[in-house]
Amino acid sequence: MTSIGQRLCIQEVSARDGFQMETQAVPTDKKIAYLNRLSETGLSKIEVTSFASPASIPTLADAESVIKGLLRVPGVIYTALVPNLRGCERALATTIDEINLVISASESHNLANLRMTCEQSLVQLASIARRAQSAVQVSASISTAFGCPFEGTIEVARVMDLVGRFADMGIDQVALCDTTGVANPAQVEHLFAEVRSRWPGKQFTAHFHNTRGMGLANVLAALRVGITRFDASLGGLGGCPFAPGATGNICTEDLVHMLQAMGLETGVDLSRLLLIAADLPSLVGHDVPGQVVKAGVSTRRYPFSGAVDRTPPQSITSLTRGLQ
Ligand code: COA
Ligand code: ZN
Repeated sequence: MTSIGQRLCIQEVSARDGFQMETQAVPTDKKIAYLNRLSETGLSKIEVTSFASPASIPTLADAESVIKGLLRVPGVIYTALVPNLRGCERALATTIDEINLVISASESHNLANLRMTCEQSLVQLASIARRAQSAVQVSASISTAFGCPFEGTIEVARVMDLVGRFADMGIDQVALCDTTGVANPAQVEHLFAEVRSRWPGKQFTAHFHNTRGMGLANVLAALRVGITRFDASLGGLGGCPFAPGATGNICTEDLVHMLQAMGLETGVDLSRLLLIAADLPSLVGHDVPGQVVKAGVSTRRYPFSGAVDRTPPQSITSLTRGLQ
């Protein structure tokens, strides 16, 4: 089990996994202001955009302008998703710190998402790794690692094979992604234990979606086998437009709130995060799934005068009251 005192890394993905799923693009200047606020919260890494084809992901077509507008905070790693060689060239022309390569564990989702077979993707990803490694950090994400909406079960051996292929490319940071929220805690514990025992030196990230309410339970399962890096999305935005039934990632502020309540160290300022989360519905134009911003933190206390006040919380100030 990940121990108390061990620093956990929270990697914010709402500006990529979240905004890619929105029907209306968040205006570029608002994205930049949002990311600059997030940079001040103690997050370890922020995925700021994606260098996907604008035809596939129109809401992230402004990737270059977003990166140009970032006020970088030292210690924060700024990363962007790269699906192909053209995306790599675009990324390398910016000041991004890291590129995050993507492939699916399942053939059908890779075809739907990237319009390539897995082998075609691997050929491109290997040349991207060769091309990019001297300029930027390179990480990789394996989508549908816990199950595929088209094919169902994904064998552990398939994920191990892909992690091995990334190892051959010299990539030591790999995220295992539950793209459509089908993973359960027993499965999570098993898969992460397998990859960690085979590659003890690699940094594995857990990337969960909360589509079936198992997201935070899956975090606990990953913690039990020593995982210390978690992708999460403010407000619980997120989802892959090319995976039927996909919905939001685990919610960053709910995750940080849980970890903090358990006495685990994330380095993230929960009060600041909640203030940004409170503004998120107006930024994206709809309600979001995050729960702590609605309920207030677990240490919140109400005045007791003999009768229970049933009026809903009025302001974000009252929601964060109770935080140390
Ligand atoms: N950025 C910008 N333009 C790109 C591009 C990229 N990364 N990749 C391809 N293009 C352009 C090509 O230059 C070409 O332009 P042209 O018609 O003017 O010549 C056109 O798009 C088609 O190129 P092609 O290589 O045939 O790409 P494609 O249409 O088969 O798309 C991907 C392949 C991988 C780029 C696309 O499927 C994609 O962006 N997928 C990402 C999906 C995603 O991000 N999902 C969520 C995250 S898991
Ligand atoms: Zn995702």
